[in-house]
Amino acid sequence: MLVIKNANIVYLSSVVHANMVIDEDTGKIKAIKKVLNKEEESHQTIDAKNGFILPGLIDIHTHLRDLQQSYKEDYHSGTMAAAHGGFTTVIDMPNKKPEISSVKELRLLNAIIKEKANIDVIPALMVKKCLESQKSTINRYYYPYYKLYLSGTTATTGETLDFALNWLKNNRFRVVMSHCEDEQFFVTNEDCQSTPHAHNICRPPQAEENSVKNFVESLVYNSFLDVGKIHISHLTLPTLVDYLHEKIKHGYPLSFEVTPHHLFLNTSDHDHLGSFAVVNPPIRPKEVQKQLLVKLLEEKIPIIASDHAPHTEEEKRSKNAPSGIPGLETTLPLLADFVFKKKITLNYLIRLCYLNPIKLLGLSPYWPFRAGTLANLVILDLKSEWKISGETFLSKAKWTPFEGWSVHGRVLVTLYRGNLVYFCDDVSK
Ligand code: NCD
Ligand code: ZN
Repeated sequence: MLVIKNANIVYLSSVVHANMVIDEDTGKIKAIKKVLNKEEESHQTIDAKNGFILPGLIDIHTHLRDLQQSYKEDYHSGTMAAAHGGFTTVIDMPNKKPEISSVKELRLLNAIIKEKANIDVIPALMVKKCLESQKSTINRYYYPYYKLYLSGTTATTGETLDFALNWLKNNRFRVVMSHCEDEQFFVTNEDCQSTPHAHNICRPPQAEENSVKNFVESLVYNSFLDVGKIHISHLTLPTLVDYLHEKIKHGYPLSFEVTPHHLFLNTSDHDHLGSFAVVNPPIRPKEVQKQLLVKLLEEKIPIIASDHAPHTEEEKRSKNAPSGIPGLETTLPLLADFVFKKKITLNYLIRLCYLNPIKLLGLSPYWPFRAGTLANLVILDLKSEWKISGETFLSKAKWTPFEGWSVHGRVLVTLYRGNLVYFCDDVSK
């Protein structure tokens, strides 16, 4: 047994100061009570120091690499980073080396995940490659989670997109996560990856706007309105937030996410961040970013996802820097700081990073907490201020564009199925 003392347990609309008794063998909560009995008093104890207990968070957009890119991240380091960031479930994107698109590859990947991961990792399959394999195999891949790229080497557009949507319609899928940028608007040249300024010019906002709108029209064209969820990844434009809300209001099965880097960084950060700020879609100008932040304050964003995309410092410093920013260990602190400053509520944070993701994915809930629920949880200290530092990351990518930012909101402990997967040094055990 494990006992968490001095905790503020967060419920839907209240916070209760109580102790939590956890059975490590079943991985479940045994009891939540104000007063412990003698036997419970004798168990191993975690002092929550009046921190808040939240459900283990869910990050629906991560790139945990492994395979041929284990030097950037692998399932051990990636899931340690996730636990350090308060996550107990992540969706892992299929743009790996090699790409993940078949049941065979999925089986191999799941074996590695089982061996190395410390939390739940759910891989997504690459739609385009699935379609290619379909030509040679008759079996359909009955799998719930897919990733669709509307740009890049794995782009699915035009007739292929129509074909993909129809193929998906015939599968019992649950959600298609979609990277929306229209390559016709890209202004490609050799400098595109060298500085964030050049990168912004190469991938202008029109590429995202056009891609999202065309995509939604393709859904209508292909009678895709009642089947599954279309989820738009890393939306950066506040105008598209309004556009998608309008569509959702009219019954379209759409959902979307926003990343912390698009919420908290803008092009005025480009000079000091250099190619470390190169990411797809690009960081937008200040006026766009501020408007996106307003959408957060208005609770118009349903999901925050990190798009944790680790690369080595050496790669990021090179002339041809790969796009991507690590985010698993900064997402919760940045949002929690907004809770501390009373800009958003703790309840909204849970909707952004647990409730809406779990609904989208159709996973079994483990919150609100009660006896019998799975003990996937985070203890969050909202009081002390600290400075984000890449050096302390458990990810292999020990750098962050948020280096030195002062925030409130530190993960003290993460429990996955009743077991400690992360605890900071000063929590007594
Ligand atoms: C992604 C990555 O590194 O896997 N990078 C990113 O900037 N979001 C790939 C991609 O979406 O281009
Ligand atoms: Zn991504």
